[in-house]
Amino acid sequence: MGMEFTNTSTKPNADHTYTKEVSRWSENASLRAMMKANCNSILTYASPNQPPVSVDSFLGDYTKPEFGLDDSFLLKTDDLEVSPLFKSGKPIKVLDFACGTGMLAEYLAPYFPAGSQFVGVDLSQSQLDIFDERMKEINSKNQNLDVKLYEYNIADDEFNKENNLKEPVELIEGTFDLIYCSTAYHHFHDVETITKKLKTYLKKSDDAALVILDLYYGDFISKFKGQNNLNTDPEKPDPNNSVAHHGGFSPEMFQHFLTSDKIAFSKVKTGITFKPQQWIPEIGIRVFFNDNSLVDKFIASAPPMRKNEALNLQEYLVSGEMVIAVCWK
Ligand SMILES: C[S@@+](CC[C@H](N)C(=O)[O-])C[C@H]1O[C@@H](n2cnc3c(N)ncnc32)[C@H](O)[C@@H]1O
Repeated sequence: MGMEFTNTSTKPNADHTYTKEVSRWSENASLRAMMKANCNSILTYASPNQPPVSVDSFLGDYTKPEFGLDDSFLLKTDDLEVSPLFKSGKPIKVLDFACGTGMLAEYLAPYFPAGSQFVGVDLSQSQLDIFDERMKEINSKNQNLDVKLYEYNIADDEFNKENNLKEPVELIEGTFDLIYCSTAYHHFHDVETITKKLKTYLKKSDDAALVILDLYYGDFISKFKGQNNLNTDPEKPDPNNSVAHHGGFSPEMFQHFLTSDKIAFSKVKTGITFKPQQWIPEIGIRVFFNDNSLVDKFIASAPPMRKNEALNLQEYLVSGEMVIAVCWK
C-alpha cells in the first residue's frame, strides 16, 4: 500500500507531516470542497460581510462526491462581494505563503488580473513538486500570470543555510497587494516571526491585506474532554511535533495575537467562514491531534465512517471550523 503518515520531525520548522504520498491522499473530495470555499473567502476578503458573523451550517453534503460542490460554487469576478483588487484589471503581486501543492492557487488563478505576479513559498520541496505538476492547468486558466515557486523558510536562516536555500528575489518589503496563507498556521513553530515577516512584505494600503485561513477544532475537542496534550497557544508551539498547534486557532486567539503590540496590524477582522467536514483515516487523526486518548474516545463514539477502497483505509468524518483573519498594515 505504501501510504504512511510519517511524523519524523523533532526539529522545529522541518515539517515532514506532508510527504508526497500523504499530499496525494489528502487531495481528496473534502479538501477540494474546502479549497473552493477558501477561494471564495479570499475573493471576498474586503467585503463588509466577510467574515460572516456566525455560521451554523456545514460545508456541503458529506454523502455526495466533492460534497456536492461543483465549480458553479466558485464566485464570478463580477459578483458584488468580490473585492476590488480582483475587479480593477490592474496587475497585483500575490504571495501564497505555505502554498503546499497549489490546489487553492489553481482555483484562484483565473481571478488574478493579467500581468499579475504570483509567488508561492513553502519549505517542503515534495509539496512544490506536486505544485509544479499543476502548472499546465494553472497556465491554461490564466496565461498572463507570472508564477514563481520557492522552497524557502522566511523564519529560519539556519534552515536555509543547511538546505542551501536562497532568499527569493520577489520577497521585497512593502510590495505585496495580497498575502494569503491557507490551513498552514497550525504547522508553524514560530508563528510570531512568520507573521512579523509577512507583515513587512505587505503594502501599506486599504486594498492590501494578509488573509489567514486556518482550521479550528474547538467543537471537536470539547466533545471529547479529558485530553491533556492539545496545544493551541500561538506563543507555545509543541517543539516535538510537526503539527505545532494541535487543535488550531480560534477567531479570538487570532484577534488577540494579531492586534497585540508584538504584531500590531492596524486593523484585523476575524471570524468563522464555514464548517468543513473531512474524511480522515485514523492514522491521520492521530498525527493531527497528537493525543491517543482523545482519538480513542472519538473513534469509540462511532462517528460516520467509510472505507476508502483505493487506499484500503477506514476513514472517519471529522468536523471543524474554518477561521479567517484579514489583516491590514
Ligand atoms: C496543510 S498544508 C497547506 C497547504 C496549502 N496552503 C493548502 O491550503 O492546501 C501545510 C503546508 O505548510 C507548509 N509549511 C509548514 N511550515 C512552514 C513554514 N515554516 N514555512 C513555509 N511553509 C511551511 C508545509 O510544507 C505544507 O505544505
